[in-house]
Amino acid sequence: MPTPDHAATHATDNALNVTPDAALLDAARSAFARAYAPYSRFHVGAALRTADGQVFQGVNVENASYGLGRCAEQSAVQAMATAGARSFTDIVVYSEATPPASPCGACRQVLFEFAPDARVVCVNQHGHIVSGLVRDFLPHGFRLEQRDDGHEVGTP
Ligand code: THU
Repeated sequence: MPTPDHAATHATDNALNVTPDAALLDAARSAFARAYAPYSRFHVGAALRTADGQVFQGVNVENASYGLGRCAEQSAVQAMATAGARSFTDIVVYSEATPPASPCGACRQVLFEFAPDARVVCVNQHGHIVSGLVRDFLPHGFRLEQRDDGHEVGTP
């Protein structure tokens, strides 16, 4: 049996060997400052770029009913979709944690819906990076066109 190339397929480190794009990092960091996280006090800012160069930001938005909290990555995707865009090429996630916060499982599926091939760069104030493609963060992500009746919905 061939040995799987885990280094290439697992986003446990800077798998893409990249530094975050400066403009997207600035956008993610400035969003970070606006996070609404009075309960966890854990701020996260995200910024994504569409293929035509539009940038959308997101922050985590918590709620007194804790389960209603929304992650920064999902907020950025919602801003993008609300503006009518349907795909992105890059997303930067900024937090002040070591290692930097990496998208939660639910966020991975939300990112996968629109951009399975997008680059994800998670970074903190020290410049530590966790990176990979969305599909590396979420192997076997769900798509509705997998339905046996051939019905196709949600294809970007
Ligand atoms: N959070 C994000 O917004 N993105 C991540 O990648 C990890 C976690 C938020 C959710 C919650 O508001 C806070 O961080 C603590 O879990």
